[in-house]
Amino acid sequence: MELILTENYDEMVEKAFSIVKSLVVTKPDAVLGLATGSTPLGLYKLITQDHKECGTSYKAVKTVNLDEYKGLAPDNRQSYAYFMRKNLFEHIDIELCNTNIENGLAENEKAECERYDEILKELPRDLQLLGLGSNGHIAFNEPSTPFGSTTHVVALTENTVKDNSRLFADASEVPRKAFTMGIKSIMQAKKILLLASGKNKAQAVLRLVKGEVSELLPASVLQLHPDCITIVDKEAASLL
Ligand code: GLP
Repeated sequence: MELILTENYDEMVEKAFSIVKSLVVTKPDAVLGLATGSTPLGLYKLITQDHKECGTSYKAVKTVNLDEYKGLAPDNRQSYAYFMRKNLFEHIDIELCNTNIENGLAENEKAECERYDEILKELPRDLQLLGLGSNGHIAFNEPSTPFGSTTHVVALTENTVKDNSRLFADASEVPRKAFTMGIKSIMQAKKILLLASGKNKAQAVLRLVKGEVSELLPASVLQLHPDCITIVDKEAASLL
């Protein structure tokens, strides 16, 4: 795993942006695995700005997102589908039909997970972007998720519900379940780019970089990936 330390958040997303841009410029029909959360927001702003100013095109790019809350419709403001449209897709020239995310409203969980695994098979990712949960989760793969997991439904831990409640009016509104890409599926991406920023990620970053590879810290599996870049700002790296 290649570790890049940056002074601050802005430098972290600039470094991530240059990796994404060079991929899209050299391979205009690249498949990107995308993430939600506050961490990638600055990266999505840079992609938008560059698209407007330099004309980098996403017309042939395809995307697959990591996860979606169960029970939320794509037009619900708290859904990850809505987040992606508002923070990225509506600002670039990507075709919405080329973007994929789990259907939070799917009644048949098993069928929805199988549908998503098929999409992942058909669209081998050139790059998978990841954030990091404060408990070391990646996507919504909480501690103790098997490394062999594919798309599945998870019950979110209290820790994750609490972390994510800042984006809801009240913690009671945070859905308790979610669809998520599995750890095996994440590891199948050709290249992985994990971003972590802020003090509340420091413990997870320490265990990700220096701890043992263990299902208790889902992100530690990335130590086994042949091409994973982890970009961490000063605060998130403060325990290293
Ligand atoms: C959620 C998402 C993860 C994300 C994590 C961290 O749980 N499912 O994909 O990495 O939050 O979010 P943030 O970047 O807001 O700290």
